[in-house]
Amino acid sequence: MQQITSLIGGDLQKVETELVNALNSKVPLITKVGGYIIASGGKRFRPLLYLLVAKSCHYSGEHNIPLACVFEYIHTATLLHDDVLDHAETRRGNSSVNSVWGDRTSMLVGDFLFSKAFSLLVKTGNLRSMQVISDATTKVAEGETMQTARGGNANLTEEEYIAIVSNKTASLIEAACQVGAIMGNSSPERENNFKNYGLSVGIAFQMVDDTLDYTSEDEKFGKALYKDLQEGKVTLPLIHTLKQASAEDRQMILSLLQNGSLSQENVDTIIQLIKKYEGVSYVLTKAREYVDSALNNLQELDPSPLRDALVATAHYVVERKW
Ligand code: IPE
Ligand code: IPE
Ligand code: MG
Ligand code: MG
Repeated sequence: MQQITSLIGGDLQKVETELVNALNSKVPLITKVGGYIIASGGKRFRPLLYLLVAKSCHYSGEHNIPLACVFEYIHTATLLHDDVLDHAETRRGNSSVNSVWGDRTSMLVGDFLFSKAFSLLVKTGNLRSMQVISDATTKVAEGETMQTARGGNANLTEEEYIAIVSNKTASLIEAACQVGAIMGNSSPERENNFKNYGLSVGIAFQMVDDTLDYTSEDEKFGKALYKDLQEGKVTLPLIHTLKQASAEDRQMILSLLQNGSLSQENVDTIIQLIKKYEGVSYVLTKAREYVDSALNNLQELDPSPLRDALVATAHYVVERKW
């Protein structure tokens, strides 16, 4: 990560400044709430990937910082909406916007950030980037809707889970990488390689998030543990456990899940069963497979510090603790 900072650290600092400056609105509540969620931090993973790919493709023009902000604003907008859907009380180590200002404010400021993002995007005048990013946000909405429709169902299959995470999370990460290549006027093959790199990194990223919901001990994680289970959200550690469990254990989990809101004791019982069937290590192994497939897309690049940084970023996704 230190190496990455030396490659694009200056740009990442400019992104921080621009994220605050571009947030301007004449409505004080928007400035306040938008400023609050941006100042809460976060990994800035999508800006980082965009900047690394753009630089690998030799683009270092005036649109870099605004485009990096576009990805972070869209991501932040989805978090404001997602926390309403998930009844989240904490985000980025602080009280969530919905728990401080209410669901309506969280939705509306999310809408504002989406619109700001598209306004910054249009200023680049780059039609292909606009198309790719619009397609990605459409997929995010589809993914979150698929999850709302199916994600609480104990029969959810691994294939359906992959479809959900590909849309709700990986599509934006994929777009960040593809747009980096587009801005560098890359060949269609290279653009496609970066797109596929982003897609695989993005799927692994959400898989790991779903394990951290069960395991994170790092305070920077900034979200409550076992939230997915408490919300009845069926993610891969549980899907795998349900698939592997004895008939008796499976029945136990299903009957607990049917209860609606889970007591701490019931949560503990399910967690013990996920441990018994190694649900978390299964998901981490799968996530590593996606990382390997991401790395395959970097093979045609000449060795360079930027290529090393892209390799390290893919590995970071499974090694991260928050
Ligand atoms: C959280 O994203 C939502 C998911 C897609 C898992 P991040 O883990 O990137 O959140 P921040 O931006 O660092 O807070
Ligand atoms: C949400 O997934 C991903 C988005 C597209 C917002 P999660 O619901 O797992 O994200 P967290 O755990 O709330 O950050
Ligand atoms: Mg959530
Ligand atoms: Mg999560």
